[in-house]
Order: sequence, then C-alpha cells, then structure tokens
Amino acid sequence: MTRGTRDVHKRVRTARGRTASSNRWLARQLNDPYVRQAKAEGYRSRAAYKLIELDEKFGILKGARRVVDLGVAPGGWSQVVRKLRPGAAVVGIDLLPTEPLEGVTLLQMDFMADEAPAALRDALGGPADLVLSDMAANTVGHKQTDHLRTMGLVETATWFAIENLEPGGAFVAKVLAGGTDAALLSLLKTHFRTVKHAKPPASRKGSSEWYVIAQGFKGTPGPQEG
Ligand SMILES: C[S@@+](CC[C@H](N)C(=O)[O-])C[C@H]1O[C@@H](n2cnc3c(N)ncnc32)[C@H](O)[C@@H]1O
Repeated sequence: MTRGTRDVHKRVRTARGRTASSNRWLARQLNDPYVRQAKAEGYRSRAAYKLIELDEKFGILKGARRVVDLGVAPGGWSQVVRKLRPGAAVVGIDLLPTEPLEGVTLLQMDFMADEAPAALRDALGGPADLVLSDMAANTVGHKQTDHLRTMGLVETATWFAIENLEPGGAFVAKVLAGGTDAALLSLLKTHFRTVKHAKPPASRKGSSEWYVIAQGFKGTPGPQEG
C-alpha cells in the first residue's frame, strides 16, 4: 500500500441543508486516508488495513492455509487474506449478507447460534490455522450490557479457536479498550505460547477497540487435561 496517499487532505465545502454533524462525518470520511486507500485498492472496508497492519507487525498470515473470518461483512479482512495468501481456504460468517468473494465460503448466520461452530467446521473441511474475529456487538447504549455482549462474543470466539485450531495456529480478535479481562487472558495464556494486545494505526484513536493476538496454539487439551 502506498502510504504517501494517506497524507492528502480534502476540504469539505459547507453545503446548505447539511447539518454540522453530517458535515463532520463527511469531512472525516473524505479526509480519512484509509477510506480513500480502500477505495483505490478495491477493499470493501477501511478495516482491511487493520488486518494488513496487524499482519505487518505480527506475521499472522504467514503460512495460513485455512482461515475462519468471524464477522466477515462486508468482506475487507477476507479480501486481505485472499490477496496475501491466494491459496488459503477462507470461511466467513456474519449476521449480515456479504457480497460473494472468490475463494471465500460465506455463511449468513449468528455465530452465537448452537449450529454455527459445526457449520463453520464443515465448510472449512479441516482444522483452521488462523481464526480471526472482527465481530462487534450492536450497541444498545447501556454500558454494562454492551460490555457483556462484546465480551460474550470474544469469549465464544476464543473457545471456537481453542476447539478448532491446529497446533501452532493463531487467534486474533477485536476486544475492548484495556484488552481482555483477567479470566480470558489466563485462558488464552494457557492455550497459546504468546498473547499480545495491539491497536493498529488504522483503528481510529477515539474508538475503544483493541485487538488481542494469540499465537502458537499449544494443541487441543486431551481428556486428562479436561
Ligand atoms: C466491524 S464489522 C467487520 C468488518 C470486516 N472485518 C471487514 O473488514 O469487512 C463487524 C461485523 O460483525 C458482525 N457480527 C456481530 N455480531 C455477530 C454475530 N453474533 N454473528 C455473526 N456476525 C456478527 C456484524 O454484523 C458486522 O458485520
């Protein structure tokens, strides 16, 4: 990606009839170098650059052959996976419809539904070596509820990763500011050799999102380990 183009700024002319807040939104969109870059490079979301930057820093896509993309819509992360790992099989799931993507199997269903893990496993046709989750719970405006819903998604995604990764595999998930809570962090540390948190430059400074990057999956626990 050509970083130079990120620096060009556009001015938004004030149009009559536009509210101050919609002007601010438009100015942010037009002046957002990632939005322009995504358009120029054919990515469906500016979020694509978060994965590109996480990969630059942690090498998460290195050697990836079977990838699960939780919260795939509109498809930016899967596009990045297919571009950087053209041979990789990708399975994505989202509540929302996603326009077809070459090499990506798309499931439109709730990841929290009982049948979702089996559907993902069937579509993948083998153990995953990378589980990605960019899922964000729809906020209802009640702080504790929003927090619990988001943590619920991350925790379920973590268990899915533990049950479906092959040894050496990696798990990357969007979490809240402050990272994962103590219980989840200890679960991740039990199952992965390294667990780190990062906020990629493409993640807006004002947003509370961070990412947890767990690498070096130690393998599914045997019956004696519970
Ligand atoms: C930030 S977007 C993902 C953007 C994507 N990484 C990209 O680059 O295009 C988060 C997605 O998570 C999805 N999502 C939230 N909860 C979900 C759930 N329970 N099951 C499936 N998808 C969910 C939302 O519908 C939304 O499309």
